[in-house]
Amino acid sequence: MSVDLPPKIRERTVSKARTLLEALPFMQEHWGKTIVVKYGGAAMERAPLSRSFGNDLALLQHVGIHPLIVHGGGPQVTEVSARLGLPTTFVGGLRITDGPTLDVAKMVLAGKVNTDVVGTLLGCGVQAVGLSGVDGGLVMARRREPPDLGFVGEVVQVNGAVVRALMDQRFVPVIASIAIGDDGQAYNVNADVVAAELAVGLSAEKLVYMNDVPGLIGPDGDLLSELGVQEALDLLAHPDAVDGGMIPKLESAVRALKAGVPRVHFLDGRVEHALVLELFTPEGIGTMIAVDAPGEEGTP
Ligand SMILES: Nc1ncnc2c1ncn2[C@@H]1O[C@H](COP(=O)(O)OP(=O)(O)OP(=O)(O)O)[C@@H](O)[C@H]1O
Ligand SMILES: [Mg+2]
Repeated sequence: MSVDLPPKIRERTVSKARTLLEALPFMQEHWGKTIVVKYGGAAMERAPLSRSFGNDLALLQHVGIHPLIVHGGGPQVTEVSARLGLPTTFVGGLRITDGPTLDVAKMVLAGKVNTDVVGTLLGCGVQAVGLSGVDGGLVMARRREPPDLGFVGEVVQVNGAVVRALMDQRFVPVIASIAIGDDGQAYNVNADVVAAELAVGLSAEKLVYMNDVPGLIGPDGDLLSELGVQEALDLLAHPDAVDGGMIPKLESAVRALKAGVPRVHFLDGRVEHALVLELFTPEGIGTMIAVDAPGEEGTP
């Protein structure tokens, strides 16, 4: 028996079906792939946006993508340090980390922020599991120098076994950016660097940085929508193109691209459903840096 719908309702339902089907080639393209998302900035700090992020992740997972989240928390570490009377100093976008600051970073990142992110994701139906780079020796590091920044680590190795086991069971790992040395010393590692190293170690298809800016801004103040590795290196060498937290972000992007991650995206975390828009629609948002010639994103 067929049911005749009024024309207006029929139009609406058909257009919904069309929208879903338009996303199908993108879903097929990303099925079974690993995507590493560095979750920071505005998306993390504002409740409606964090729910939008959680819902996006639920969708990603249900269409067969394996997401892994690395979260930031720089402002939260700075805030708790200030409450404890500890000064905060950055050099080249990296936090100088003495013993007490390392303790704050461990407490805030692996404690509060990690628990909050996992809680938000669980509230959106995502089976999130919180870890830091210390668990299972996931992110091994050594003291980064020169210059001496204290307990700031540089990543020497990623042991993906623990997160692969979780992802095989459809859990979404949520990683705080604390790493461990082979002598058991913990290190504070910039979350962008951890995300890039995990993307490389897990052979991710994409590395996505969620920002509190529209993307990578060029020296003229315009948003750069697509660029290649050499252009990214030129920006890093440019005296006034990139500063602060964007330095380790762009350096990590280049490192990931050179080590085999095909695409890195800088998305505006203030845009609702930024992840779904980027992955499942032809309209890419923010900045894409690609190893291959840019210009073909959107064609599945
Ligand atoms: N050329 C540039 N384009 C875009 N942002 C830039 C640029 N140069 C510097 N920035 C700054 O870099 C910041 C992003 O890095 P930041 O480390 O502050 O954020 P995050 O990495 O998202 O957060 P967290 O470090 O807590 O994880 C932007 O808010 C912007 O102020
Ligand atoms: Mg940062």
